[in-house]
Amino acid sequence: MKNKKILIIGGGVIGLGIGWQLAKSGAAVTIYERAQAGRAASWAAAGMLAPLAEAHIEEPELLKLGSQSLALYPQWVRELEAAAEMSIGYRVEGTLIIGLEPDDTHQLRHLYASQQDLGLDVTWLTGRAAREIEPALSPRVTAAIRCESDHQVDNRLMVKALQRAYQRCGGVLHENSAVESIHIENGIAAGVKTRDGEKQNGDVIVLSAGCESAQIQGLPDAIRPPVRPVKGQMLALQMEAGITVKNVIRTVRARYPMSVYLVPRTDGRLIVGATTEEMGFDTRLTAGGVFELLRGAWEAVPGVYELPLLETWTGLRPGSRDNAPILGETPIENLIYATGHYRNGILLTPITAYEVSKLILTGETSETIAPFRVDRFLA
Ligand code: GLY
Repeated sequence: MKNKKILIIGGGVIGLGIGWQLAKSGAAVTIYERAQAGRAASWAAAGMLAPLAEAHIEEPELLKLGSQSLALYPQWVRELEAAAEMSIGYRVEGTLIIGLEPDDTHQLRHLYASQQDLGLDVTWLTGRAAREIEPALSPRVTAAIRCESDHQVDNRLMVKALQRAYQRCGGVLHENSAVESIHIENGIAAGVKTRDGEKQNGDVIVLSAGCESAQIQGLPDAIRPPVRPVKGQMLALQMEAGITVKNVIRTVRARYPMSVYLVPRTDGRLIVGATTEEMGFDTRLTAGGVFELLRGAWEAVPGVYELPLLETWTGLRPGSRDNAPILGETPIENLIYATGHYRNGILLTPITAYEVSKLILTGETSETIAPFRVDRFLA
Protein backbone atom coordinates (compact mmCIF):
# COMPACT_ATOMS: atom_id res chain seq x y z
CA MET A 1 0.00 0.00 0.00
CA LYS A 2 3.03 2.25 0.47
CA ASN A 3 3.15 3.36 -3.17
CA LYS A 4 -0.55 3.98 -3.40
CA LYS A 5 -2.15 7.37 -3.44
CA ILE A 6 -4.52 8.19 -0.61
CA LEU A 7 -6.93 11.10 -0.82
CA ILE A 8 -8.50 12.36 2.41
CA ILE A 9 -11.57 14.59 2.32
CA GLY A 10 -11.51 16.87 5.37
CA GLY A 11 -8.55 18.30 7.29
CA GLY A 12 -9.84 18.27 10.86
CA VAL A 13 -8.15 16.29 13.62
CA ILE A 14 -9.53 13.05 12.18
CA GLY A 15 -8.27 13.63 8.62
CA LEU A 16 -4.96 15.05 9.83
CA GLY A 17 -4.50 12.21 12.35
CA ILE A 18 -5.09 9.49 9.76
CA GLY A 19 -2.99 11.41 7.21
CA TRP A 20 -0.10 11.77 9.66
CA GLN A 21 -0.04 8.05 10.47
CA LEU A 22 -0.15 7.13 6.77
CA ALA A 23 2.45 9.69 5.67
CA LYS A 24 4.72 8.51 8.51
CA SER A 25 4.56 5.02 7.00
CA GLY A 26 5.69 6.35 3.63
CA ALA A 27 2.30 6.53 1.87
CA ALA A 28 1.52 9.37 -0.56
CA VAL A 29 -1.29 11.31 1.12
CA THR A 30 -3.23 14.39 0.01
CA ILE A 31 -5.79 16.09 2.25
CA TYR A 32 -8.48 18.32 0.76
CA GLU A 33 -9.85 20.81 3.27
CA ARG A 34 -12.75 23.08 2.32
CA ALA A 35 -11.50 26.01 4.48
CA GLN A 36 -8.55 26.09 6.91
CA ALA A 37 -7.27 22.83 8.36
CA GLY A 38 -8.58 22.08 11.84
CA ARG A 39 -10.63 25.28 12.12
CA ALA A 40 -14.10 23.74 12.23
CA ALA A 41 -15.30 21.32 14.95
CA SER A 42 -11.69 20.49 15.90
CA TRP A 43 -11.10 24.14 16.81
CA ALA A 44 -14.46 24.72 18.44
CA ALA A 45 -14.18 21.71 20.77
CA ALA A 46 -13.34 21.92 24.47
CA GLY A 47 -10.83 19.03 24.35
CA MET A 48 -12.45 16.97 27.13
CA LEU A 49 -11.37 13.33 27.09
CA ALA A 50 -14.37 12.14 29.00
CA PRO A 51 -15.58 8.60 28.27
CA LEU A 52 -16.76 8.23 31.88
CA ALA A 53 -18.56 11.56 32.28
CA GLU A 54 -20.24 11.15 28.88
CA ALA A 55 -21.01 7.41 29.32
CA HIS A 56 -24.54 6.26 28.61
CA ILE A 57 -25.78 2.89 29.74
CA GLU A 58 -27.32 2.31 26.31
CA GLU A 59 -24.05 3.00 24.44
CA PRO A 60 -21.62 0.32 25.72
CA GLU A 61 -19.69 0.01 22.42
CA LEU A 62 -19.05 3.76 22.37
CA LEU A 63 -17.87 3.71 25.99
CA LYS A 64 -15.46 0.90 25.16
CA LEU A 65 -14.09 2.75 22.11
CA GLY A 66 -13.72 5.98 24.11
CA SER A 67 -11.95 4.20 26.96
CA GLN A 68 -9.59 2.47 24.51
CA SER A 69 -8.79 5.81 22.87
CA LEU A 70 -8.22 7.49 26.23
CA ALA A 71 -5.74 4.72 27.11
CA LEU A 72 -3.85 5.52 23.89
CA TYR A 73 -3.53 9.21 24.77
CA PRO A 74 -0.19 9.10 26.66
CA GLN A 75 1.46 7.32 23.70
CA TRP A 76 -0.29 9.64 21.20
CA VAL A 77 0.85 12.75 23.08
CA ARG A 78 4.45 11.48 23.27
CA GLU A 79 4.57 10.69 19.54
CA LEU A 80 2.83 13.86 18.42
CA GLU A 81 4.75 16.23 20.68
CA ALA A 82 8.04 14.67 19.53
CA ALA A 83 7.07 14.86 15.85
CA ALA A 84 5.79 18.43 16.03
CA GLU A 85 8.22 19.67 18.69
CA MET A 86 5.49 21.39 20.67
CA SER A 87 3.24 20.75 23.64
CA ILE A 88 -0.43 19.90 23.09
CA GLY A 89 -1.50 20.76 26.63
CA TYR A 90 -2.49 17.27 27.83
CA ARG A 91 -3.71 17.48 31.46
CA VAL A 92 -4.60 14.66 33.83
CA GLU A 93 -6.23 16.42 36.81
CA GLY A 94 -9.56 14.71 36.13
CA THR A 95 -13.21 15.71 36.09
CA LEU A 96 -15.78 16.61 38.75
CA ILE A 97 -19.48 16.28 37.90
CA ILE A 98 -21.38 18.49 40.33
CA GLY A 99 -24.97 19.08 41.39
CA LEU A 100 -26.30 22.35 42.81
CA GLU A 101 -29.73 21.43 44.16
CA PRO A 102 -31.36 18.40 45.83
CA ASP A 103 -32.92 17.43 42.48
CA ASP A 104 -29.49 17.45 40.91
CA THR A 105 -28.22 15.17 43.67
CA HIS A 106 -30.91 12.64 42.78
CA GLN A 107 -29.87 12.80 39.16
CA LEU A 108 -26.20 12.48 40.13
CA ARG A 109 -27.04 9.38 42.22
CA HIS A 110 -28.79 7.85 39.21
CA LEU A 111 -25.76 8.64 37.02
CA TYR A 112 -23.40 7.23 39.66
CA ALA A 113 -25.42 4.00 39.88
CA SER A 114 -25.29 3.52 36.11
CA GLN A 115 -21.55 4.29 36.09
CA GLN A 116 -21.10 1.63 38.77
CA ASP A 117 -23.20 -0.85 36.77
CA LEU A 118 -20.80 -0.23 33.90
CA GLY A 119 -17.84 -0.93 36.24
CA LEU A 120 -16.40 2.57 35.88
CA ASP A 121 -13.81 3.93 38.30
CA VAL A 122 -15.73 6.85 39.83
CA THR A 123 -16.01 8.23 43.37
CA TRP A 124 -18.96 9.83 45.16
CA LEU A 125 -18.14 13.09 46.99
CA THR A 126 -20.10 15.33 49.34
CA GLY A 127 -20.34 19.00 48.39
CA ARG A 128 -17.78 19.83 51.08
CA ALA A 129 -15.32 17.22 49.74
CA ALA A 130 -15.75 18.62 46.22
CA ARG A 131 -14.98 22.13 47.49
CA GLU A 132 -11.85 20.85 49.22
CA ILE A 133 -10.61 19.76 45.80
CA GLU A 134 -11.81 22.92 44.04
CA PRO A 135 -12.27 25.82 46.53
CA ALA A 136 -13.70 28.11 43.84
CA LEU A 137 -16.83 25.93 43.57
CA SER A 138 -20.10 27.39 44.80
CA PRO A 139 -21.09 26.74 48.44
CA ARG A 140 -24.36 25.50 46.91
CA VAL A 141 -22.70 22.36 45.50
CA THR A 142 -24.67 19.47 47.02
CA ALA A 143 -22.62 16.49 45.81
CA ALA A 144 -20.22 15.43 43.09
CA ILE A 145 -18.87 12.46 41.18
CA ARG A 146 -15.12 12.39 40.67
CA CYS A 147 -13.91 10.85 37.40
CA GLU A 148 -10.16 10.93 37.90
CA SER A 149 -9.35 9.27 34.60
CA ASP A 150 -11.33 11.74 32.43
CA HIS A 151 -8.58 14.08 31.21
CA GLN A 152 -8.27 16.94 28.72
CA VAL A 153 -6.06 18.17 25.90
CA ASP A 154 -5.77 21.60 24.28
CA ASN A 155 -7.48 20.77 20.99
CA ARG A 156 -6.26 23.93 19.25
CA LEU A 157 -2.65 23.04 20.05
CA MET A 158 -3.36 19.50 18.87
CA VAL A 159 -4.60 20.86 15.54
CA LYS A 160 -1.38 22.84 15.05
CA ALA A 161 0.79 19.89 16.08
CA LEU A 162 -1.03 17.48 13.76
CA GLN A 163 -0.74 19.79 10.79
CA ARG A 164 2.97 20.27 11.45
CA ALA A 165 3.63 16.54 12.00
CA TYR A 166 1.66 15.61 8.87
CA GLN A 167 3.45 18.09 6.63
CA ARG A 168 6.87 17.19 8.06
CA CYS A 169 6.26 13.59 6.90
CA GLY A 170 5.59 14.80 3.36
CA GLY A 171 1.77 14.91 3.60
CA VAL A 172 0.19 17.31 1.09
CA LEU A 173 -2.51 19.67 2.36
CA HIS A 174 -4.81 21.64 0.03
CA GLU A 175 -6.71 24.27 2.03
CA ASN A 176 -9.69 26.23 0.66
CA SER A 177 -10.22 23.26 -1.62
CA ALA A 178 -13.65 21.75 -1.10
CA VAL A 179 -14.35 18.33 -2.55
CA GLU A 180 -17.62 18.40 -4.45
CA SER A 181 -17.87 14.73 -5.39
CA ILE A 182 -16.34 11.30 -5.10
CA HIS A 183 -15.95 9.51 -8.40
CA ILE A 184 -17.11 5.90 -8.27
CA GLU A 185 -16.51 3.51 -11.20
CA ASN A 186 -18.04 0.02 -11.25
CA GLY A 187 -18.47 0.02 -7.47
CA ILE A 188 -14.90 1.19 -6.84
CA ALA A 189 -13.94 4.66 -5.52
CA ALA A 190 -11.50 6.08 -8.04
CA GLY A 191 -10.99 9.76 -7.25
CA VAL A 192 -12.41 13.12 -6.22
CA LYS A 193 -13.46 16.34 -7.94
CA THR A 194 -13.09 19.69 -6.18
CA ARG A 195 -15.47 22.64 -6.49
CA ASP A 196 -12.85 24.33 -8.68
CA GLY A 197 -13.18 21.46 -11.14
CA GLU A 198 -9.85 19.80 -10.31
CA LYS A 199 -9.98 16.01 -10.67
CA GLN A 200 -7.62 13.74 -8.82
CA ASN A 201 -7.41 9.96 -9.00
CA GLY A 202 -6.62 7.99 -5.87
CA ASP A 203 -6.24 4.38 -4.81
CA VAL A 204 -8.04 4.95 -1.50
CA ILE A 205 -10.50 7.73 -0.63
CA VAL A 206 -11.10 8.57 3.05
CA LEU A 207 -14.19 10.58 3.91
CA SER A 208 -13.53 12.51 7.14
CA ALA A 209 -15.40 15.73 6.44
CA GLY A 210 -17.21 15.98 9.80
CA CYS A 211 -20.70 17.43 9.58
CA GLU A 212 -20.18 18.07 5.84
CA SER A 213 -19.71 14.37 5.11
CA ALA A 214 -23.27 13.79 3.91
CA GLN A 215 -23.05 16.74 1.50
CA ILE A 216 -20.40 15.18 -0.75
CA GLN A 217 -21.92 14.12 -4.07
CA GLY A 218 -21.38 10.88 -5.95
CA LEU A 219 -22.25 8.47 -3.13
CA PRO A 220 -25.24 6.14 -3.52
CA ASP A 221 -27.98 7.40 -1.18
CA ALA A 222 -28.07 4.09 0.70
CA ILE A 223 -24.53 4.52 1.99
CA ARG A 224 -24.45 8.29 2.45
CA PRO A 225 -23.17 8.67 6.04
CA PRO A 226 -26.08 9.73 8.29
CA VAL A 227 -24.25 12.71 9.79
CA ARG A 228 -25.84 16.06 10.64
CA PRO A 229 -24.57 19.30 12.19
CA VAL A 230 -25.35 19.78 15.91
CA LYS A 231 -24.56 23.32 16.97
CA GLY A 232 -22.66 24.20 20.13
CA GLN A 233 -22.09 27.73 21.46
CA MET A 234 -19.01 28.26 23.61
CA LEU A 235 -17.01 31.00 25.30
CA ALA A 236 -13.68 31.53 27.04
CA LEU A 237 -12.93 33.50 30.22
CA GLN A 238 -9.55 34.49 31.63
CA MET A 239 -8.96 32.97 35.07
CA GLU A 240 -7.48 35.24 37.72
CA ALA A 241 -5.91 34.72 41.14
CA GLY A 242 -8.45 33.18 43.53
CA ILE A 243 -10.86 32.31 40.72
CA THR A 244 -9.22 29.25 39.22
CA VAL A 245 -10.05 25.58 38.85
CA LYS A 246 -7.74 22.70 37.92
CA ASN A 247 -10.24 19.93 37.22
CA VAL A 248 -12.74 19.89 34.40
CA ILE A 249 -16.07 20.80 36.04
CA ARG A 250 -19.38 19.57 34.62
CA THR A 251 -22.76 20.46 36.06
CA VAL A 252 -25.78 18.18 36.11
CA ARG A 253 -29.04 20.12 36.29
CA ALA A 254 -32.15 18.04 36.77
CA ARG A 255 -34.42 20.93 35.86
CA TYR A 256 -33.67 24.34 34.42
CA PRO A 257 -31.08 25.82 33.72
CA MET A 258 -28.80 24.17 31.21
CA SER A 259 -25.90 21.93 32.24
CA VAL A 260 -22.48 23.34 31.36
CA TYR A 261 -18.84 22.35 31.54
CA LEU A 262 -15.79 24.42 32.49
CA VAL A 263 -12.40 23.39 31.14
CA PRO A 264 -9.30 25.13 32.55
CA ARG A 265 -6.37 25.52 30.19
CA THR A 266 -2.72 25.74 31.19
CA ASP A 267 -2.53 29.27 29.72
CA GLY A 268 -5.26 30.49 32.14
CA ARG A 269 -8.20 30.35 29.75
CA LEU A 270 -11.39 28.80 31.11
CA ILE A 271 -13.48 27.27 28.32
CA VAL A 272 -17.22 27.20 28.99
CA GLY A 273 -19.54 25.05 26.89
CA ALA A 274 -21.83 24.18 25.37
CA THR A 275 -25.31 24.39 23.94
CA THR A 276 -26.64 21.44 21.92
CA GLU A 277 -28.86 22.74 19.14
CA GLU A 278 -30.44 21.16 16.07
CA MET A 279 -30.21 24.21 13.81
CA GLY A 280 -28.78 22.74 10.61
CA PHE A 281 -25.76 24.67 9.36
CA ASP A 282 -26.67 27.83 11.34
CA THR A 283 -23.54 29.02 13.17
CA ARG A 284 -24.92 32.23 14.71
CA LEU A 285 -24.08 33.04 18.29
CA THR A 286 -27.20 34.01 20.24
CA ALA A 287 -27.81 36.15 23.30
CA GLY A 288 -29.72 33.26 24.87
CA GLY A 289 -26.90 30.81 24.27
CA VAL A 290 -24.24 33.06 25.79
CA PHE A 291 -26.58 33.94 28.67
CA GLU A 292 -27.16 30.26 29.52
CA LEU A 293 -23.44 29.49 29.39
CA LEU A 294 -22.56 32.42 31.65
CA ARG A 295 -25.36 31.63 34.07
CA GLY A 296 -24.38 27.96 34.23
CA ALA A 297 -20.71 28.82 34.80
CA TRP A 298 -21.60 31.45 37.44
CA GLU A 299 -23.80 29.01 39.34
CA ALA A 300 -20.97 26.46 39.50
CA VAL A 301 -18.13 28.93 40.19
CA PRO A 302 -19.60 32.28 41.35
CA GLY A 303 -16.24 34.05 41.00
CA VAL A 304 -16.46 33.87 37.21
CA TYR A 305 -18.68 36.97 37.45
CA GLU A 306 -15.48 39.02 37.78
CA LEU A 307 -13.51 37.39 34.97
CA PRO A 308 -12.73 38.97 31.60
CA LEU A 309 -14.67 37.44 28.71
CA LEU A 310 -12.07 36.63 26.03
CA GLU A 311 -13.88 34.94 23.20
CA THR A 312 -17.19 33.53 22.03
CA TRP A 313 -17.69 31.03 19.18
CA THR A 314 -19.87 28.30 17.77
CA GLY A 315 -19.10 24.92 16.25
CA LEU A 316 -20.98 22.16 14.48
CA ARG A 317 -20.58 18.67 15.90
CA PRO A 318 -20.83 15.85 13.36
CA GLY A 319 -23.72 13.94 14.94
CA SER A 320 -24.45 10.46 13.63
CA ARG A 321 -27.81 8.74 13.97
CA ASP A 322 -26.71 6.68 17.01
CA ASN A 323 -24.11 9.15 18.40
CA ALA A 324 -21.25 6.78 17.53
CA PRO A 325 -18.65 7.39 14.83
CA ILE A 326 -18.76 5.75 11.40
CA LEU A 327 -15.44 4.02 10.78
CA GLY A 328 -13.88 1.67 8.29
CA GLU A 329 -14.82 -0.01 5.03
CA THR A 330 -17.97 0.76 3.08
CA PRO A 331 -19.84 -1.25 0.42
CA ILE A 332 -17.79 0.76 -2.12
CA GLU A 333 -14.33 -0.72 -2.63
CA ASN A 334 -11.47 1.64 -1.67
CA LEU A 335 -13.82 4.06 0.10
CA ILE A 336 -13.21 4.41 3.84
CA TYR A 337 -15.30 6.41 6.31
CA ALA A 338 -13.98 8.18 9.40
CA THR A 339 -16.75 10.56 10.38
CA GLY A 340 -19.69 11.17 12.73
CA HIS A 341 -17.61 11.52 15.91
CA TYR A 342 -20.28 13.81 17.41
CA ARG A 343 -19.31 14.83 21.00
CA ASN A 344 -16.12 12.78 21.10
CA GLY A 345 -13.96 13.79 18.15
CA ILE A 346 -10.94 14.84 20.17
CA LEU A 347 -11.17 11.81 22.47
CA LEU A 348 -11.51 9.42 19.52
CA THR A 349 -8.75 10.91 17.37
CA PRO A 350 -5.94 8.52 18.43
CA ILE A 351 -7.94 5.31 18.02
CA THR A 352 -9.41 6.51 14.72
CA ALA A 353 -6.00 7.52 13.38
CA TYR A 354 -4.26 4.30 14.44
CA GLU A 355 -7.04 1.92 13.41
CA VAL A 356 -8.05 3.53 10.11
CA SER A 357 -4.44 3.96 8.96
CA LYS A 358 -3.75 0.30 9.87
CA LEU A 359 -6.80 -0.76 7.89
CA ILE A 360 -5.55 1.17 4.84
CA LEU A 361 -1.96 -0.07 5.15
CA THR A 362 -2.75 -3.74 5.85
CA GLY A 363 -6.28 -4.26 4.51
CA GLU A 364 -7.30 -5.80 7.84
CA THR A 365 -10.18 -4.40 9.91
CA SER A 366 -9.62 -4.81 13.62
CA GLU A 367 -12.28 -5.99 16.04
CA THR A 368 -12.05 -2.54 17.61
CA ILE A 369 -13.66 -0.63 14.77
CA ALA A 370 -15.73 -3.44 13.21
CA PRO A 371 -18.91 -2.46 15.16
CA PHE A 372 -18.72 1.08 13.78
CA ARG A 373 -18.91 0.38 10.05
CA VAL A 374 -21.58 2.18 8.04
CA ASP A 375 -23.28 -1.21 7.39
CA ARG A 376 -25.01 -0.90 10.75
CA PHE A 377 -27.35 1.67 9.23
CA LEU A 378 -28.16 -0.37 6.13
CA ALA A 379 -31.52 -2.10 6.06
N1 GLY B 1 -18.00 16.89 24.17
C1 GLY B 1 -18.58 18.10 24.56
C2 GLY B 1 -19.51 18.67 23.58
O1 GLY B 1 -19.71 18.14 22.51
O2 GLY B 1 -20.09 19.71 23.88
